[in-house]
Amino acid sequence: MTVREQFETMDYGPAPEARDKADAWLTDRARRFGLFIGGAWVLPDGADTLPSHAPATGEKLADITIADKGQVDAAVAAARAAQGTWAALGGHGRARYLYALARLVQKHSRLLAVIESLDNGKPIRESRDIDIPLAARHFYHHAGWAQLMDEEFPGFEPLGVAGQVIPWNFPLLMLAWKVAPALAAGNTVVLKPAEFTSLSALKFAELAEEAGLPPGVLNIVTGAGETGAHVVGADVDKVAFTGSTEVGKIIRRAIAGTGKKLTLELGGKSPFIVFEDADIDGAIEGLVDAIWFNQGQVCCAGSRLLVQEGIADRFYTKLKHRMSMLRVGDSLDKCVDIGAVVDAVQRDRIASLVQQGENEGATVWQAPCELPGDGIFYPPTLATDVGTDNVLIREEVFGPVLASMTFRTQAEAVALANNTRYGLAASVWSESLSRALEVAPALKAGVVWINGTNMFDAAVGFGGYRESGFGREGGREGMAAYLRPAFEARLKPVKSVDIPARIEPPRAVTGMIPVDRTAKHYIGGKQARPDGGNSMVVADAKGRFAGVVGEGNRKDIRNAVEAAYKARGWAASTSHLKAQILYYIAENLGYRSDEFEARLRTLTGADAGAAKDEVQASIDRLFRAAAVADKHEGTVHEPPMRGVAIAMKEAVGVLGIVCPEEAPLLAFVTLMGHAVAAGNTAILLPSERYGLIATDFYQLLETSDVPGGVVNIVTGPKQALAMELARHLGVDGLWYFGAETDEAAIETAATDNMKRTWLACGKAYDWADTSRLSSRLLMDRGIEIKNIWVPYGD
Ligand code: NAI
Repeated sequence: MTVREQFETMDYGPAPEARDKADAWLTDRARRFGLFIGGAWVLPDGADTLPSHAPATGEKLADITIADKGQVDAAVAAARAAQGTWAALGGHGRARYLYALARLVQKHSRLLAVIESLDNGKPIRESRDIDIPLAARHFYHHAGWAQLMDEEFPGFEPLGVAGQVIPWNFPLLMLAWKVAPALAAGNTVVLKPAEFTSLSALKFAELAEEAGLPPGVLNIVTGAGETGAHVVGADVDKVAFTGSTEVGKIIRRAIAGTGKKLTLELGGKSPFIVFEDADIDGAIEGLVDAIWFNQGQVCCAGSRLLVQEGIADRFYTKLKHRMSMLRVGDSLDKCVDIGAVVDAVQRDRIASLVQQGENEGATVWQAPCELPGDGIFYPPTLATDVGTDNVLIREEVFGPVLASMTFRTQAEAVALANNTRYGLAASVWSESLSRALEVAPALKAGVVWINGTNMFDAAVGFGGYRESGFGREGGREGMAAYLRPAFEARLKPVKSVDIPARIEPPRAVTGMIPVDRTAKHYIGGKQARPDGGNSMVVADAKGRFAGVVGEGNRKDIRNAVEAAYKARGWAASTSHLKAQILYYIAENLGYRSDEFEARLRTLTGADAGAAKDEVQASIDRLFRAAAVADKHEGTVHEPPMRGVAIAMKEAVGVLGIVCPEEAPLLAFVTLMGHAVAAGNTAILLPSERYGLIATDFYQLLETSDVPGGVVNIVTGPKQALAMELARHLGVDGLWYFGAETDEAAIETAATDNMKRTWLACGKAYDWADTSRLSSRLLMDRGIEIKNIWVPYGD
């Protein structure tokens, strides 16, 4: 081709990245990989293997060992044996290893990028410029957390052994997201890469050897879902998973009741909202990055375009033009925009979802690009005319497929954006910063990008709301997911409190006007009769009649959840107002302290001193909740770009709180106070044995300006009501304290809508110990962090 012709066609010539070093590495290992256990390579005789292919060409790259249960258990045993020494190495010792790993990732970055692109099919530009540099950055950042552990996390300790299962879309980056914080915090790791893409993890294991990482600190076991299930089921203390929501739920149910800590980073259907005052060309480029980056195989892909009606036609025209210019091709070609889909299974899944979307009425348009003959490719696709019930708007496609709807008003845009079971990310495009900053907090998503998309940094937490999972990766909150307060691990078992058998209320004395003993709940700011019309007699410390409380049932829980949901505007009220109301409750409790002391003495048999102490401690706790309400603030991150990421603390939402039997007043106000200080609305199940203490509290709430529905109290059989809360899809979070219970059943029921749970069944907290059960700890459990990225440009 002449230079003239070149100019005329402006066609790209092939620009292949050299793959000789990657091929040499594969050949050197005889294209057959074992497991990395206890610092050694284990190649079990006769082990099953699975092939790893290059999706862009179809060539077989290597055979990978499928680890069975015994091998996974051996890896966990190696990690267990290494953990004490690794933790005892101290922050600085671990920081040095993490730093060494960061340097080695950088040193081998070109080889890692080629391995990644060969194995996954992603364009080399992306693995070279995004995946590998971000992975290195993650190890640097976490070397820092390891170094500062004693300063930044006093009183916290590692969890032990972390079992980690990762997907195939960002193989090395997901490894870095999992391994770096786990090791920094002093845990040891057993990691299973995805079956399609194990190679970069295996190369990383070699880097760990090169760094001299002590044997057993990092173990890599390869295989498919069954091997993943072995990791999850093994003797690990923490499970961290990234992948599909479906498997996330299976994992949560599988470990329910085991006490293993869990973080889940699951699917998404993230909205990409373009207002008519947006920079349209900028938004189009953003969209290319949002949905065609990594062939759309990105959990936070902007896969739902919401465009304002007035600009929709112009926007679609420009978008189609831009889509026509995208180059689909070999993953090692430096001029390619879109590479190969990871596997034929995934390509077929994409194609079948698109077909289903079309059958459901979508208009599907595909860019007229040339797809390479070999390999697994799918063209950039736009689906319009989709309703909210179309599969392409509802389901995660995980491919280069954009589904689009239009909207008229800002309110409609927010409503459409939030109309999903997911809540991972969102993108907002508008030149009006005030509009963007108004919309961002209204979106139910863990990450919001303003006039940008797919920005990531190790210092900025990443993770979702709702069925996109829970827990964050990156930043302080990502570290916290691998640590626990040391005192919580050493709590003694709680003593059980006997609920006396039913006792009869005394008969009314003839000739006297009977006292109205109609028992009530407290729902929506009012005393409400129990739905079933039943009441339960509460006995005093000596087993005599003390009073009656309502006997709640499923309907009462439903009413309370509805009231709490309606009151969710509480989250948006100012912290100053929240504090004022909590101070007011405390003040009112102070006025009536004699009455509450007397009640505690009658119900629990506490002596005068102990009853007085509990009431005073309760007033102190309410003051603390008020005090922290306007001090538990977010952070402004400064990622390596011109811009900031604002980490906002948002309430979990509607919180079910099951109170313990011990310290019936103090525990009740501690949990209630901090839950509402964090902006949640709450349904409390108070102590069953001493329930009258909570019903006495109704009047305090009524006289303290607490908006109706913010605090709801349902009395009755606690275990049964707790299960109702766990099952209810309108409850976003559940805290459970008190006697040993069927934690597995609660956690399993809580899985359907991915409730955030704090299950402390059977643990004896010292409710008066404010240094351990501190206000910040309580507030942290009542919030989720949303990161809003605000780039400034140059
Ligand atoms: P997947 O969720 O099945 O696989 C992710 C990882 O989990 C892999 O390492 C796999 O071996 C492992 N795994 C599978 N079953 C397991 C089990 N029962 N216990 C423990 N580990 C298990 O995802 P898959 O099948 O590769 O992709 C299917 C769909 O999932 C995609 O089309 C996409 O919609 C979604 N997905 C979402 C991801 C995300 O980051 N949000 C990542 C990967 C897939």
